[in-house]
Amino acid sequence: LNVSVANTVHYFAIRLLAEFCRRRPKVRVSFKVTNRKGLLQNLEDNAADLLLMGQPPETPELAAEVFLKNPLVIIAPAGHPLAGQRNVALGELAHETFIMREMGSGTRNSVERFLAERGVRLTISMEMNTNEAIKQGVEEGLGLGIVSVHTLERELQSGRLVVLNVASFPIIRQWFIVYRTGKRLSAIATEFADFVRNEAQDFVRNDIIEKAIGHKLADL
Ligand code: PGA
Repeated sequence: LNVSVANTVHYFAIRLLAEFCRRRPKVRVSFKVTNRKGLLQNLEDNAADLLLMGQPPETPELAAEVFLKNPLVIIAPAGHPLAGQRNVALGELAHETFIMREMGSGTRNSVERFLAERGVRLTISMEMNTNEAIKQGVEEGLGLGIVSVHTLERELQSGRLVVLNVASFPIIRQWFIVYRTGKRLSAIATEFADFVRNEAQDFVRNDIIEKAIGHKLADL
């Protein structure tokens, strides 16, 4: 099984992969993690059969099916003055600095689009190219971050990070199973795609998501 997944998707995708490998213990896996730009390159170079990622470009060469919602949230260290406040206006974040994902990241693209549509500017003090680095940076007080709620389970459970309640957030994105229309998928890739398509919902930690954003994933 040759699969490449977005940095942001890999937390969730590894849980899916673990179950898939329990059912198919003999399968050999190549699991690559990169950003949106790298993923599309992997598919083009035949370095992956399947991608799990955010919205891919619309082209007849790519088949894409939604498999899960992906809410982006603003994170702060525990104890931040805005933690616990409700419906914080976007404008109030003008005093904060942000650690943002790198150019080429799907998360970065959609945050930029969201802000441009609202005519809002945030101060980006730093760029980091993984969710892990951003989460750690936020914990250390380097700034606020905007990441997928699916990347946050451990930090939310331990209370090291909090999700701020900000007007118009979360930004709702979607994740897709992507493959090339011109290439026949191997039997194992087809089986994995079916598994993701039909069962991904069952692996969502709705208890943690609901506590962080007040809604179950399916209700967003
Ligand atoms: P990213 O993509 O890790 O490149 O930000 C994730 C996504 O598109 O959801």
